[in-house]
Amino acid sequence: MINAQKLRQEFPILEQVVNDEALVYLDNAATTQKPEAVLQTLENYYRKENANVHRGVHTLAQRATQKYETAREKVCQFIHAEKTEEILFTKGTTASLNWIARSFGDRFVQAGDEIVISYMEHHSNIVAWQQLAKRKKAVLKYIPLTKKGFLDMEEAKKQITNKTAVVAITHASNVLGVLNPIAELTNLAHLHQAIMVVDGAQAVPHMPVNVKELDVDFYAFSGHKMCGPTGIGVLYGKQEWLEQMEPVEFGGEMINFVHLYESTWADLPWKFEAGTPNIAGGIGLGEAIDYLDKIGLVEIFQHEKELVSYVLPKLQAIEGLTVYGPQDPYEHTGVIAFNLDDLHPHDVATALDMQGVATRAGHHCAQPLLQYLGVAATVRASFYLYNTKEDADRLVEAVKETKEFFKYGTF
Ligand SMILES: Cc1ncc(COP(=O)(O)O)c(C=O)c1O
Repeated sequence: MINAQKLRQEFPILEQVVNDEALVYLDNAATTQKPEAVLQTLENYYRKENANVHRGVHTLAQRATQKYETAREKVCQFIHAEKTEEILFTKGTTASLNWIARSFGDRFVQAGDEIVISYMEHHSNIVAWQQLAKRKKAVLKYIPLTKKGFLDMEEAKKQITNKTAVVAITHASNVLGVLNPIAELTNLAHLHQAIMVVDGAQAVPHMPVNVKELDVDFYAFSGHKMCGPTGIGVLYGKQEWLEQMEPVEFGGEMINFVHLYESTWADLPWKFEAGTPNIAGGIGLGEAIDYLDKIGLVEIFQHEKELVSYVLPKLQAIEGLTVYGPQDPYEHTGVIAFNLDDLHPHDVATALDMQGVATRAGHHCAQPLLQYLGVAATVRASFYLYNTKEDADRLVEAVKETKEFFKYGTF
């Protein structure tokens, strides 16, 4: 079991006072805080190890290369991929998804092919496919949701057909707090010779993920949502696809030989990684993985389940508060989107912030979903390994105070 009270001591940023109140950080779906171990690794890298990778023969260059490539091995083991050739470092989930749409899409998607996504996707798993559909005259289709907020699997079975080239679905929603049945969707996609792409931004930080068992073709996630630095992310792809795909960016690092008018590409995974990579970011992500592994992904998942089971009924008991997605805590991840009466979510989030509670208000980069739900915006509280029941209580109390404030004008 996780001792969050103890763990949070490893996150110096959480020890501060905001608006005269001890900070309660509940915006983890946007980005997570970094433990001392990751902060020290980053500082150590720049203070003692900084050098470019894959180029120099000097000691620092070799050390940086070895650490960067060790981080790739850690990522590989973390998501249970078969080999490091299948692990590409990117800027983050958005870049990973763009690479697939650009590289796989331009090569394999034809006019009239269908790309199937869902109404609960983040913009980064929508817009790249819209652009591909435009370039290729392909057709973009949306799987609808059930009343409870789950992906409608009966509809998925109808939408995924022999015309489908790509199925691209989020593993965990960043708004509704639901998990999607990726193995089942992958089976469906493969049954129709389509590829399965997964946006894992909200899953990999919170639960064990095994890409081999899921049999997905591509899987994308971000370092900054899992205690790692910003500017580093991962694209997992099956080697058989990556071998056939063209790089998206060209230049140094990704070549084998450059002639005057032609060039050949480096082996996987470097063929896709043009230019100097985010070396510190990669090494920092490796450290974050060590950190998460030490705690245990099963334990993190259970901890968030416990917190949600504790806080969701308390929020639901507040008159005028609407929770989006499943109402049963056992069906809900650590992401809770809600609205309070007819108050504007920005006003609510500002009032919460005045009480030291950091949440997110807005469309959460999921405008089609919010239109589907019939709201312009929501407040979102999202929990992580360092959040405690005391944080949950502070949220509930702050929401109640906010309700009173907008009724009577005082805290
Ligand atoms: C489900 C989901 N997909 C993709 C992204 C985009 O991640 P990034 O901004 O790190 O590229 C996010 C970030 O909020 C997300 O929640």
